[in-house]
Amino acid sequence: MKRNNLVCILFLIIFITAFIDSCQSEGQLNYARYYTNGKQLYDTHCQNCHNADGKGLQALIPPLTDTVFLRQNRSRLACIIKFGLNEKITIHGKEYDFQMAPNSQLADIDIAALVTYITNSFGNKQGLYDDASAAGDLEKCESE
Ligand code: HEC
Repeated sequence: MKRNNLVCILFLIIFITAFIDSCQSEGQLNYARYYTNGKQLYDTHCQNCHNADGKGLQALIPPLTDTVFLRQNRSRLACIIKFGLNEKITIHGKEYDFQMAPNSQLADIDIAALVTYITNSFGNKQGLYDDASAAGDLEKCESE
C-alpha cells in the first residue's frame, strides 16, 4: 500500500513538471511569434521614421529607446499606433511636438505584435502583449 502511494506521488510530480514545462514553452512560442511579426511590421510601417535602432530622428521623431515613456504609457501604445499622436510629449528630457499619422488599417493582432516588438527592443523588456490586451486597450480610445 505504502509503495503504491509513493509511486502515485512520483507520477504526479512527473506529470505536473511536464505540464508546467509545456505551458512555459507555449508561452515562449507565442511571444516569439508576436515579436517576429512585430519586427516585420515595424520594418514596413515604422522604421522609416523611428529608425531601425529605435533612436528616432533628432528633434523631429521621438526615440523608442526611452524605457520610461513606453512603460508609463503601455496601455496607450495600441491607441497611439492605430490613431496616431498629435500632442506635446517629453521623452528623455526632450520635447517633441509633431504629428504621427494613424495606422487604422492594422488589425488588433498586428498592433499587439508591434507593441510586443517595441516594448521588448531598444533596451525595453516588458514581455508579451497579446491581441486581447490590444482589443481591451483600443476600446478605451475607440469609444472617445
Ligand atoms: C511619418 C513618421 C512616423 C511614422 C511612420 C511612425 N511614427 Fe511614431 N511618432 C512619430 C512622431 C512625429 C511622434 C511624436 C508625435 C507627437 O509629438 O505628438 C511619434 C510618436 C510615437 C510614439 C510615442 C513616443 C515615443 O517615442 O515613445 C510611439 C510609441 C510611436 N510613435 C510608435 C510608432 C510605431 C510602432 C510606428 C509604426 C506602426 C510609428 N510610430 C510610425 C512619427 C512617426
